[in-house]
Amino acid sequence: MVGLAVGEPVAAYLPHFGGYAQTVLADPRFVRSLRTEAGEVDPSQAAAVPCVFPTAYGVLQDAGRLRAGESVLIHSAAGGVGSAALQLARQAGAGRMLGTVGSADKIPYALKLGYDAVFVRDGFAEEVSAATGGRGVDLVLDPVGGQVREQSLKVLAPFGRVVAYGDLARSEQWTASVFDLWKHNQTIAGFNIGDLARRAPERIGAYLAEALRLVAAGGVDAGVTRILPLAEAATAHELLETGNGHGKIVLSLT
Ligand SMILES: NC(=O)c1ccc[n+]([C@@H]2O[C@H](COP(=O)([O-])OP(=O)(O)OC[C@H]3O[C@@H](n4cnc5c(N)ncnc54)[C@H](OP(=O)(O)O)[C@@H]3O)[C@@H](O)[C@H]2O)c1
Repeated sequence: MVGLAVGEPVAAYLPHFGGYAQTVLADPRFVRSLRTEAGEVDPSQAAAVPCVFPTAYGVLQDAGRLRAGESVLIHSAAGGVGSAALQLARQAGAGRMLGTVGSADKIPYALKLGYDAVFVRDGFAEEVSAATGGRGVDLVLDPVGGQVREQSLKVLAPFGRVVAYGDLARSEQWTASVFDLWKHNQTIAGFNIGDLARRAPERIGAYLAEALRLVAAGGVDAGVTRILPLAEAATAHELLETGNGHGKIVLSLT
């Protein structure tokens, strides 16, 4: 189906997890070669691509309906999906790119990724409103939820969209008022890669292939900030669970 030869290096999206292994069985619809027309991707970089980049495409394009010139606000701007979405939005011709992070120490790293402005998430609505002259942004990508989702509606330009794709804050589920949405020309959309993999698997394969090609071409960075041996998986998890990391952590088997 994807024309792979025996021994060819590949990356695979694993919908049922299980990637901490030397050998895995992968669905060929989610496997793509590291040898792209733009060159070959190093496996240590490719490991960061299969879940994060298709998710970034999904939140921007499928759920977010991003159009050229539109402004985007990305919460958890320095995370894996956030930094991938920033780069793919730039590739798609997005306008101003704003981000929020959980603490001020992440701002320099996030700015280096290429955001136009990055704010600490506490009080972001005022900052975004001031930065956009009160207009707000066209698209918000939100993996945090709770108050952050609710506040995000306050910084939407007319016909702006908030895409919910995670609940990092582990807040009580908050219910939006449909009345308020239509009264203010607002949309809340959702994205879930697991559901897309079940119902439109070919799209995951296409996104994976395109992302690997962009990484090989050098136009997009896979965002790997640390490579740890598998034996140090606990350290990697500690960084993820405390939210203190940035970029992607790769576990190496070699
Ligand atoms: N819906 C989908 O299809 C889909 C697919 C992939 C991932 N996701 C979800 O998207 C989110 C981000 O994924 P990712 O791969 O970008 O993760 P990641 O690289 O590990 O980013 C995690 C970031 O989340 C932020 N965060 C906010 N509250 C947190 C908390 N209570 N505990 C830990 N971190 C917290 C932290 O940054 P700040 O402090 O700067 O906010 C942290 O750096 C996750 O919730 C993940 O489950 C959803």
